[in-house]
Amino acid sequence: MAASKVSGGLKVAMDDVKAKGRWALAAQFSFLVVSAVTLCVLLYAPRFSSAPAPYGATVGFFAPKPSSTSRTSSAAVQLGPPEHGGGGGGGGDAEREGGGAPEQVLDNQMGSPCSSLPNHAICCDRTDYHSDVCFMAGDVRTDAASLSLLLFPPLAAPGGGGGAAADTATVEERIRPYTRKWDGYITKTIHEVTLRSARPEEATAGHHRCDVRHDAPAFVMTAGGYSHNLFHVFNDGFLPLWLTAQHLRRRVVLAALAYNPRWAGTYGEIISGLSAYPVVDLLRDRRTHCFPGAIVGTRYHDYLAVNSTRLRDNKTVVDFHRFLADAYDEHQDDSSGGGKPEATLPPPQRRPRLGIVSRKGRRVIENQAAVAELAASVGFDVDVMETATGAPLSATYASVSSYDALVGVHGADLTTFLFLRPGRAALAQVAPLGISLLSRNLFGVPAARMGLRYEQYDVSAGESSLSRRYPAGHVVVADPARARREQGGKEWDLVEHVYLRGQNVSLDLGRFRETLARLHSRWKEQQQSQVSGADALPQQ
Ligand SMILES: *[C@@H]1O[C@H](CO)[C@@H](O)[C@H](O)[C@H]1NC(C)=O
Ligand SMILES: *[C@@H]1O[C@H](CO)[C@@H](O)[C@H](O)[C@H]1NC(C)=O
Ligand SMILES: *[C@@H]1O[C@H](CO)[C@@H](O)[C@H](O)[C@H]1NC(C)=O
Repeated sequence: MAASKVSGGLKVAMDDVKAKGRWALAAQFSFLVVSAVTLCVLLYAPRFSSAPAPYGATVGFFAPKPSSTSRTSSAAVQLGPPEHGGGGGGGGDAEREGGGAPEQVLDNQMGSPCSSLPNHAICCDRTDYHSDVCFMAGDVRTDAASLSLLLFPPLAAPGGGGGAAADTATVEERIRPYTRKWDGYITKTIHEVTLRSARPEEATAGHHRCDVRHDAPAFVMTAGGYSHNLFHVFNDGFLPLWLTAQHLRRRVVLAALAYNPRWAGTYGEIISGLSAYPVVDLLRDRRTHCFPGAIVGTRYHDYLAVNSTRLRDNKTVVDFHRFLADAYDEHQDDSSGGGKPEATLPPPQRRPRLGIVSRKGRRVIENQAAVAELAASVGFDVDVMETATGAPLSATYASVSSYDALVGVHGADLTTFLFLRPGRAALAQVAPLGISLLSRNLFGVPAARMGLRYEQYDVSAGESSLSRRYPAGHVVVADPARARREQGGKEWDLVEHVYLRGQNVSLDLGRFRETLARLHSRWKEQQQSQVSGADALPQQ
């Protein structure tokens, strides 16, 4: 469990986690669960199926469940005569847009069975543990009544109207577009979309005439899922969306399930960064929308991860950061590292900026004011970042992107490390007792992969409020790893109720000063190397 295990590399850490159980993080809100209890916690899901679910609502958090859509095979089924220029004809507009760029395909994943999708075909890749994703190339039309995408035969199909489709009219795929197909609880809340070829009578009788014609492919996704927790919003929402369709350069129409104005409002900049078109509200819009192709569902690589070896264009999480930066700050000046005015001042006149994530309710820093003073005495300009204020995410972006260091206790708000400047800024995560590895894997490893300096401050027993609740030497505070092991199938109960929800921290100022001092001296070194022209930092 020791944090040092990660030194063997990411793979080790991830395997370790997988060996211990699947992490599932969730915010559950009353609209998702019958219960009126509103939780906003990161949830840990062991795969021990004997473990009682934390609150009735979270059943199904455990191991992957077989479902009608859990086939592991994948196949491209061609429904009509192949047309040249193939390679996913659905991306045709993007191809033209590219002007001499390499041929655009709908599926950007390396080695995917769907990457050489011929025109007029449906292909689903169900090989991944986390998510299924389907592609349709050809004349795709929505059928609101059955929440389906129908693939119509090419207009001049040899053999006469609809004849080509007749042979293969039974092709039908069903998919719930979300990244946690192993998580039965949430997956069953995701609307199931049917993809099928139009039946001959549909294709010939003038059904599904287009009410709205789009010249870019549809990208069917959900605004639902664990949508009230910032970690999930990015980990299971925007990052996978970007992974799956960034190569189309906004020439894709988001067709959203569970569309809601709050989602559209809170994440408006990111949504327009993904797509140049208005979002189609797939559940409420009864019109027939026609597209030259479709992507349904998203890829998923890892916690807040972009695995560049799986993408045709080698994009990395730094590119995702840049995408966010472009979405929020059109005038970002790359050469000055974010274009914040103070960043351009010569080092002597500028103190590095440090943001402290101020949590409420649980995993609170009890001596936060003293910690803020400490940081100031070390030499930082300190900003206490209040959370859950209802401020738009653009305001959070504006703050965090100006920080040289972000400090906070483990929690979903740390997802905003994605806004920090790669190669320049730092993340310092305070890991409460019992969740050191969880903290490292969810935020530490992804932050380091984005080129941030990462510091983890593991609190000691004496810094945890649990030391007031348990007698001295109690296993829960003295040896959390053993305490967890001893719980067996009930490990999750302990993690959730005690370590995640039942703990505040009070930082040892002497020890935490060392962490802050390291961040500060690294910042100074960086400034000096910039001044001396030896700036070896990755260009943003
Ligand atoms: C990235 O993907 C490749 C190919 O699937 C895989 O072999 C590799 O382990 C992945 N890298 C990471 C860091 O997960
Ligand atoms: C991606 O990386 C591979 C291997 O390093 C390289 O062969 C390929 O040309 C790169 N592709 C792009 C689009 O940069
Ligand atoms: C943690 O601090 C918050 C805010 O002061 C308080 O409401 C909560 O009861 C504390 N929790 C524990 C376990 O001490």
